[in-house]
Amino acid sequence: MSIVLIFMRSRYLFVFATTLMLSGCAMSEEMRRINETNQAEHVREAGRSTNLTGEQLFIRSCNTCHPGGSAGVGPSLENLEKDFPNDAKLKAFLRKGKGIMPAQTKDTINDSELDELIGYLRNLKF
Ligand code: HEC
Repeated sequence: MSIVLIFMRSRYLFVFATTLMLSGCAMSEEMRRINETNQAEHVREAGRSTNLTGEQLFIRSCNTCHPGGSAGVGPSLENLEKDFPNDAKLKAFLRKGKGIMPAQTKDTINDSELDELIGYLRNLKF
């Protein structure tokens, strides 16, 4: 306690300590705002989710051009394993689209739905 009193007698130290405390408050205010923004993003993400299965997503977004996975307006998907050996490549392709094949943005298919869709594509039988 006496040590604190000695410190407090120094005006500069007092000002310094007060500044530290105030900036601490400003920091936590900033943290609170960041948390709020993150939470709002999670809520939006959940709102966009449709919880459709991979098959339902395929029928909704892909089947018109790749009927049942075979050739239509788009090519057959039977070479998927060869052309996209890993999921990261396939996901990047689907997110970007190509030519007349539309890009699948997060607003249309969120990340977990994309996982479902990939699971379905990987198990297509020809
Ligand atoms: C409007 C028609 C259309 C829709 C809808 C569409 N595609 Fe395509 N897709 C194409 C065309 C055309 C190509 C060939 C693109 C090129 O190479 O120029 C293609 C190519 C592909 C390929 C590459 C095949 C390979 O082995 O090289 C995959 C995989 C694919 N599409 C999957 C999908 C999936 C999954 C969906 C649904 C999310 C989808 N496509 C929706 C038209 C479409």
